[in-house]
Amino acid sequence: MKQALQQAFMARFGEAARHLVRAPGRVNLIGEHTDYNDGFVLPLAIERAVWIALRPRNDRRVQLFSLEFNSEGQFDLDRLEQASGWLEYPKGVAWALQEVGLGLRGFDGIISGDVPRGAGLSSSAALELAVAKAFHAVSGFAWEPARMAQLAQRAENRWVGVNCGIMDQLISAAGVAHHALLIDCRSLELTPVPLPPGSIVVILDTATRRGLVDSAYNERRRQCEAAAHYFGVTALRDVSLAQFSAAAAGLEPIIAKRARHVISENERTLQAAEAMRQGHSARLGQLMNASHASLRDDFEVSSAALNAMAEAAQAHPGCFGARMTGAGFGGCAVALVAEAQLTAFVAEVTAHYQRRTSLTPQVTVTTASQGASEVL
Ligand code: GLA
Repeated sequence: MKQALQQAFMARFGEAARHLVRAPGRVNLIGEHTDYNDGFVLPLAIERAVWIALRPRNDRRVQLFSLEFNSEGQFDLDRLEQASGWLEYPKGVAWALQEVGLGLRGFDGIISGDVPRGAGLSSSAALELAVAKAFHAVSGFAWEPARMAQLAQRAENRWVGVNCGIMDQLISAAGVAHHALLIDCRSLELTPVPLPPGSIVVILDTATRRGLVDSAYNERRRQCEAAAHYFGVTALRDVSLAQFSAAAAGLEPIIAKRARHVISENERTLQAAEAMRQGHSARLGQLMNASHASLRDDFEVSSAALNAMAEAAQAHPGCFGARMTGAGFGGCAVALVAEAQLTAFVAEVTAHYQRRTSLTPQVTVTTASQGASEVL
């Protein structure tokens, strides 16, 4: 990736790139649909990332070429106008950084990456953080990961128009190699937790892509807000399972199911971080399985393909646990697998899923990588 990008830069601009930045996608081990409820998440930054090779300009223009889209785009930092297409992510980040008064310089850049789009691995957050890192490289403002993540989230919420929480941007900005991050989405406190020894994180792409996810996502958010309102709290983070059980009967059944997912998922996520600290893979796996069931039955954001994949993985003797990951409705599942059985797991789960669905899955073994960084 690095070399291909440097060569493409040389071919296009006739000189070597002055900076090379990257920002990773993510996979979430547990803590799904909890971030916008001020709750807990436990993602890790993956090896797949968005990369930008660049050189500063002396004016306020940004000129970008995307190798994936084979398309060029440019904009002026003094005249940002909304349009549509991939350039809205870089523009949105420029808008958000300038809105808080950061002085930006223009640059020429080439973008490339290997985070699949629409698969639930946060390709947009990776693009946003890579762009923020590129502006950082040429403009020299302070790099505070949590602040950068918040500004990237604002770009996505307000400029691109997707109402996401903070998880994806924060893990892309702040990921720690060989660790997942327990994130408190209220305080933004980050606690690195090591992956249990002898276990491997495997990403299982169902080869289905989510449809209508935005409207379903916004609906879930509204249902969670309605539940928080009923309990008289700021967010469902503030409701314990005991409080929920005592008062759930007064809730509309569908709202009660949504709330039960979020409240139980927060507990599972804290327990999962504890299991990881103790190196207890089996316990972590059980919690992942329970998370999948809750997302399937209570939050109702899984899909037939995601269920087939999670079940195929869970049925394998080398698997500690598996669940859908990300917003849902399609994309990827994540499994925790015993290192000694990895090869058999990949072959057998692929065949099992293929038999059941007639779809060919993509299986990726990943370690936890570092968050957004300047490589050159
Ligand atoms: C998407 C959003 C995140 C989070 C997850 C669900 O990835 O971007 O903020 O809400 O869905 O956990």
